[in-house]
Amino acid sequence: MTAFARNQWYVAAYGREIGRELLGRTILGEPIAFYRSESDGAVVALHDRCVHRRYPLSAGRLDGDRVVCGYHGFTYDTTGTCVFVPGQKRVPRTARVASYPVVEQDSLVWVWIGDPKSADPTAIPRAPWLADPRWTTVGGMEPIDADYGLLVDNLMDLSHETYLHGGYIGTPEVAETPITTTVDEGAGVVRASRHMADAECPPFYARSTGIEGRITRWQDIEYHAPCLYLLHSRIAPVGVLPGPDGDDPDAFHVEITYAITPSTERSVYDFWAVSRDFAQDDEDVTTFLHDFNRTVVMQDVDALNLLQRALDTEPEGYQELSINIDTGGLAARRILARLVAEGATAAPDAARPAAPGAPGAPASVTG
Ligand code: FES
Ligand SMILES: [Fe+2]
Repeated sequence: MTAFARNQWYVAAYGREIGRELLGRTILGEPIAFYRSESDGAVVALHDRCVHRRYPLSAGRLDGDRVVCGYHGFTYDTTGTCVFVPGQKRVPRTARVASYPVVEQDSLVWVWIGDPKSADPTAIPRAPWLADPRWTTVGGMEPIDADYGLLVDNLMDLSHETYLHGGYIGTPEVAETPITTTVDEGAGVVRASRHMADAECPPFYARSTGIEGRITRWQDIEYHAPCLYLLHSRIAPVGVLPGPDGDDPDAFHVEITYAITPSTERSVYDFWAVSRDFAQDDEDVTTFLHDFNRTVVMQDVDALNLLQRALDTEPEGYQELSINIDTGGLAARRILARLVAEGATAAPDAARPAAPGAPGAPASVTG
């Protein structure tokens, strides 16, 4: 299993998913209830377990900006402080649940998993096209029953497009063309590029751009460990090159964004989005790209579900055999391992109450 990298930002949801209904998601094993405040529209994230009998708060209801537990009515404010208990006036002092730092940016809701004092919103990587009117974006989220490391592997090595997504986005040139990989250790970013000078145009691009014939196809991956994966895709008829100043008006650009958010040891949220800078108002293209890309994503989902089930039957310490195409994926694994180690040595979460019975745990809520 790939260990979790704590003290990091993770995408919890698209902004559009969070409103005046409680949404429960489990992130790095932590159950969290999300909702949008009525007073200022900010997203609130609270530990999704009532202090009374651990009932999920996400199964309760909102009363203005407060969450009312659906079991016996303990009521919490946006900071997680319990402000009402039934049957008595005094609210026990220790009655509170953790609240998590949240930032909404680029249409994504990011949550900080770790010591809240270390949460730095400026460290969140950007995907500006997701909320830029010059781009049209389709997207979704698919849960996968697999170790999140398998999804990182999958996205870092696109040679699988030729085999797993043949007839959709894969063509022979993807697997044939070598990649160049660079690693920015300090920033925790892996870049893997594959530039195909003369390639078949797969249906994904032929039908969305209208290009007939062969293309130059550039795939430039940027993985901002642990969560955000960007694939800058440039498509143009063969012979169309970027301008001298780096401007590139005659090419078609697609920004493919993934957020890889570990849920449990054996499940991951696969957020995906496809943004384009052409045919922005063409509803047919929008529908096509949504449905087609979701089909491609589901091919990966099915493959990773299958792979995880197969790995579960392997003896411990099973061997792998890596080749050149795995350079990006191996670099990503190294950076993740470093982030895991750094996150594990950081201070414990101040906002998380200790587990009941643990040293320093609050007395049980009575009285
Ligand atoms: S479990 Fe929440 S009020 Fe009892
Ligand atoms: Fe894939």
